[in-house]
Amino acid sequence: MYKIISVVGARPNFMKVAPIHRAFLEHRDTFTHLICHTGQHYDANMSKVFFEDLELPVPDYYLGVGSGSHAVQTANVMIQFEQVLLKEQPDMILVVGDVNSTIACALTAAKLGIKTSHVEAGLRSFDRAMPEEINRVLTDSIADYLFVTEKSGLENLHREGVSSDKVFFSGNCMIDSVVRYLPKAEQSEILLQYKLSPKQYILITLHRPSNVDNPAKLGELINFLNTVAAKRKVIFPIHPRTKRNMADSNLLETLHPDITLIDPAGYLDFLNLIKNAEAIVTDSGGIQEESTYLGIPCLTLRKNTERPVTIEVGTNQLMGDDFPRALEALNEILQGKVKAGSIPELWDGHAAERIVEKLKELL
Ligand code: UD1
Repeated sequence: MYKIISVVGARPNFMKVAPIHRAFLEHRDTFTHLICHTGQHYDANMSKVFFEDLELPVPDYYLGVGSGSHAVQTANVMIQFEQVLLKEQPDMILVVGDVNSTIACALTAAKLGIKTSHVEAGLRSFDRAMPEEINRVLTDSIADYLFVTEKSGLENLHREGVSSDKVFFSGNCMIDSVVRYLPKAEQSEILLQYKLSPKQYILITLHRPSNVDNPAKLGELINFLNTVAAKRKVIFPIHPRTKRNMADSNLLETLHPDITLIDPAGYLDFLNLIKNAEAIVTDSGGIQEESTYLGIPCLTLRKNTERPVTIEVGTNQLMGDDFPRALEALNEILQGKVKAGSIPELWDGHAAERIVEKLKELL
């Protein structure tokens, strides 16, 4: 029997670990799988609702680290996770994505000589001003097994000199969750709740520090959203960080009345909002992938993406912070001129199964 501890910390981790947990359960004769939630995200609508929607069990460990500066948050996760590792002595830990909890736990395990798998390895934005880029590069450099979602990840790791026998092209676990939960998400009543009609609204999400932490930039963004709202209804599930920054700069009251501002949505409701959107405007990493899988036009308000396959074969387009260009691109979409896309290789709903099968061989 092998004991594995998977780490979740922030919202985008839950939909990746849920299918991995299920795949480990399929091999319960070989693996004991524990889940450790660091508590990086702690509000019910940033955490608990995902456990319910994704049918995740109550985590075996909850570290309750909460918010803080990068150093404080990362250090607190490390201090507490070390105790978990010392007590459980797992054969391997598994971390996903690129949040502070990812690097904190990978580093803690590496220093104790415990093997680490990184799921969603190899993605690179080549922008070291992004906290996630630092987390990605560092986690990949200390992980023992690297599971990659798209071919660019293989190239990046090869260029960085990572030995190819540690690297596996598994596909995308987040898409496993989309495949599994889409039928259930179709039953969500969120459109009725906010009086939205399918394909007649724009879905917005914004939370990257580079967009929302600078008041002047945030003001420009809100002007852009107000122009969009003059054309179509807008629904904007707002991240707590963005809401706090808008409140601090007195921007909340400047929003166009046709922008429906809602609390962060649960997984099933949000999937429904993506599926039925006419277009999406976002700075999220995961939503670039979910929209590509579902074939929904996506305009990404960033200068780079660590997920280039969503541009190369998917429906995503990078807009940087060029708001006139983004408006032009949106107008085209609203006139029906949409970029055709297809589904990237191995985004087929079976990535987690491939990962667990591979671990069975490796351990
Ligand atoms: C984190 C990840 C980011 C990911 C995002 C998804 C890092 C470096 N960043 O960013 O990669 O895209 O999650 O949401 O790990 N807050 C709450 N309630 C919560 C959680 C956060 O109110 O449950 C507020 C706090 O004011 C906190 C702020 O949001 O200070 C930022 O939270 P934090 O976890 O530091 O980073 P995110 O911006 O959420």
